Amino acid sequence: MKNALDYIQQLAAGSNRTQRRELMAALHNLAFSLEDAHDTVNRIGYLHLQTAAVKIGFDLGLFRLLVKEEGTLTLSDISQITKADPVFLARYLRYLAAVDVIAEVGPDRYTATNITRNLAQPVAEAGISHCFETIGPEYQALPRYMKKTGYMNPSDEMHTVCQEAWNTKLHQFAWFKDHPENLKFFNDYMAHRREAEVSWLSVYPVLEQTKDWDPAKPVYVNIGGGVGHQCAQFKKKYPDVPGQVILQDLPHTIENALTTPGVENIAHDFFQEQLVKGAKFYFTRGVCHNHPDNKVKLLLRNIMSAMSPESIILLDEWVLPETGVSEYAACMDLTMMAAFAAMERSESQWRKIFDEVGLKLVKIYSYNPENYECVMDLRLP
Ligand SMILES: C[S@@+](CC[C@H](N)C(=O)[O-])C[C@H]1O[C@@H](n2cnc3c(N)ncnc32)[C@H](O)[C@@H]1O
Repeated sequence: MKNALDYIQQLAAGSNRTQRRELMAALHNLAFSLEDAHDTVNRIGYLHLQTAAVKIGFDLGLFRLLVKEEGTLTLSDISQITKADPVFLARYLRYLAAVDVIAEVGPDRYTATNITRNLAQPVAEAGISHCFETIGPEYQALPRYMKKTGYMNPSDEMHTVCQEAWNTKLHQFAWFKDHPENLKFFNDYMAHRREAEVSWLSVYPVLEQTKDWDPAKPVYVNIGGGVGHQCAQFKKKYPDVPGQVILQDLPHTIENALTTPGVENIAHDFFQEQLVKGAKFYFTRGVCHNHPDNKVKLLLRNIMSAMSPESIILLDEWVLPETGVSEYAACMDLTMMAAFAAMERSESQWRKIFDEVGLKLVKIYSYNPENYECVMDLRLP
């Protein structure tokens, strides 16, 4: 077995990102194929505890602490720094070591692993906290909701698992307004979850499209742009592109937006008339996947009414293959269904929407094929 594992490690060392993902999938499949029923219960049944235990680790600052120390910390060191009861900590750290989140290197002695280092990154704290605090209760309510609705595909965003889970009549995004901690985890996760270099800016011919642009007109309107990281990236990469850069989002998100020189932050509901007329690029990323088809069409029609003949809509979304979708994408699709009665879409599903509103799909630029991430260039016919 040692030889086989050494060989796999050598293979991993020389692999790129895609090959590494393929290797992980193959190893997971192999491990699953070896499980008996008890192993399957133990793996799937207790998954919630892993998320909960990791959330406690964030609250204690445990992962950053272990990574910062770079060596071994004793139970007593960790207890003194975190102020947690050593009796609880001993049991808790033993569990984290058993699930390989940290390593136990001797009696009451712990050190960081690859997973600890991953968990010490801001994207992990924001993402897992968002999953635990907001999505987790919705997953819990999903079976109850599906049974109650006779296993019909949800299509009304005001009657989804979100309303069931939180006992609210509000849409998920309106609900965030009164849940600032949940909103912060969500916004931080959106800001950190994609690397700046892996974006539409790496594939789209921005300079070519804007070379004669009138500086008095808006050039880039980021609709539903969160707290504005993408506007900041646009300004950084193209400081000399003429025209205004505008961030639009809901008021409670704009209140917390970055103040980037050259970027105007505007509170705007994209289901209302688009007030910024005749911009070059109307851009949205990861927005349409939060809405059912009828709402996506409303959003697109609002933009279309504001477009001039030179305007382009850039939809930055996942374009799923028709078959063989990855686990992560299939998981996102069900998550969108639960929270918003929405979905991840394949090319044919996107084309159907564009045909119905009368937009011409000029080109799909793929910038992260592993996650199906693309930017779609859409124009008035
Ligand atoms: C999934 S996030 C994507 C954020 C950002 N585009 C990104 O890629 O990081 C969706 C965004 O749409 C915003 N949003 C939702 N409903 C909206 C509405 N009716 N009008 C404007 N923005 C809205 C949310 O506040 C959120 O920031």
